[in-house]
Amino acid sequence: PKNVGILAMDVYFPATSVLQDALEDFDGASKGKYTIGLGQDRLAFCSDLEDVISMSLTVVQSLLQKYNVEPSQVGRLEVGSETVVDKSKSIKTWIMQLFEKAGNTDIEGVDSTNACYGGTAALLNCVNWVESSAWDGRYGLVVAADSAVYAEGAARPTGGAGAVAMLIGPNAPLVMERKFTGTHMSHVYDFYKPKLASEYPVVDGKLSQTCYLKALDLCYGRLCEKFEKLEGKPFSLSEVDFVVCHSPYNKLVQKSFGRLIYNDFIRQASYLEGSISANLEPYRCLPLEESYSNRDLEKVSQQVAKPFYATKVEPATLIPKQVGNMYCASLYGGLASLLHQKAGDLHGKRALMFSYGSGLASTLFSIQFQECEGHFTLSNISSALDVARKIQEFITVSPEEFDKTMQIMETRYGANDFKPVAKLSNIRPGTFFLTGVDALYRRSYDVK
Ligand code: ACO
Repeated sequence: PKNVGILAMDVYFPATSVLQDALEDFDGASKGKYTIGLGQDRLAFCSDLEDVISMSLTVVQSLLQKYNVEPSQVGRLEVGSETVVDKSKSIKTWIMQLFEKAGNTDIEGVDSTNACYGGTAALLNCVNWVESSAWDGRYGLVVAADSAVYAEGAARPTGGAGAVAMLIGPNAPLVMERKFTGTHMSHVYDFYKPKLASEYPVVDGKLSQTCYLKALDLCYGRLCEKFEKLEGKPFSLSEVDFVVCHSPYNKLVQKSFGRLIYNDFIRQASYLEGSISANLEPYRCLPLEESYSNRDLEKVSQQVAKPFYATKVEPATLIPKQVGNMYCASLYGGLASLLHQKAGDLHGKRALMFSYGSGLASTLFSIQFQECEGHFTLSNISSALDVARKIQEFITVSPEEFDKTMQIMETRYGANDFKPVAKLSNIRPGTFFLTGVDALYRRSYDVK
């Protein structure tokens, strides 16, 4: 099979949300810390009616319906998530309900977990399957889904929730350029979830930022090397039209892009000349380790990157800024934003995708866009995503209600024998929701 990649996509995020501006006041943070400092507008969250399973069911059902895909046409289903509902039973097995009722239980794949990287692991698995001798001609289906919640404190405003589903197959409008990838994996304690009775991570915020930027540097260097070997010409951001990054919060994406420009400067990319080069010149010989903590370099590289950021990065930031960190779904929420904003203008263009999961696992990979015939087209994906409507339908609740919900969710995590108390009016029609968890911890769901 040729041109294997993403044929179709859908995105889901809860309607319930809180404004970052209001959260600043509620938390007593200095004005602008979350909106300008972190670069976030809004945070979407699950009430006790929704969880990672219901969001996954919603987004898969919606994708199958919108693109007229029969459940029997799917031969592999992979889920990426770090939201642990059960230590043994995969989220994939719950989603099987949608396929079993159509008589299809012949579907390979289970869940992949490593912080925010699971969705990428799932995507690479599905693409590899379609490209392998095991492929039986059916579609692969990837689900990346998470509910990102933090304990009260500095990290709480970087929460979020959502799910993305992607249909995988040949002759795709989003072709995975599998040969152009860079990967870096390593053992660190920057963000982890050792407390099995709590949904909250243990997080070293500053360390996680540095790990993220170092991983980006290493992945970029490796991707450049591969490209240069295969294509016989230097690689730089001039080969790339868009950059989509895993987005814990937008400020880190701004810093990442500045970092890529700095990489290009060190690698003497020819498009960086005149004042840009002059501004970065004082930092050319900065020892690598120091370059991660040098605030002047951070400022200057963000400043010189600005005009490029507006065209190459900004279009992919809409959903991440509105929804918050969706962990595994975050990078793909960025990709959905890009399709929403630029569908008519993507043919022949290339996006670099940076996936980072703490702990850590990271991969930078490349997607080439091409307009296709039939119903798997760039413009059909863009209209199926229906991003503008979903954003318009946000229900804004007060920070007090958000805080109260977080408290209820703490008591729900790992609990049995309860029925949700949240209002059904707060979810959109067509959404799956939890109807209850019985004494034996068995969960049941219904559709609104
Ligand atoms: N107006 C404008 N900007 C402000 C204001 C203000 N009033 N106050 C602060 N800021 C800026 C700060 O200068 C800083 O920006 P800078 O880094 O460009 O200087 C930014 O707002 C954040 O302020 P900090 O003091 O650095 O914030 P704090 O340390 O309290 O928390 C953190 C930020 C560490 C990101 C925290 O939210 C966190 O731990 N989040 C979870 C971890 C995370 O997401 N890591 C990313 C990779 S791993 C992953 O994806 C989970």
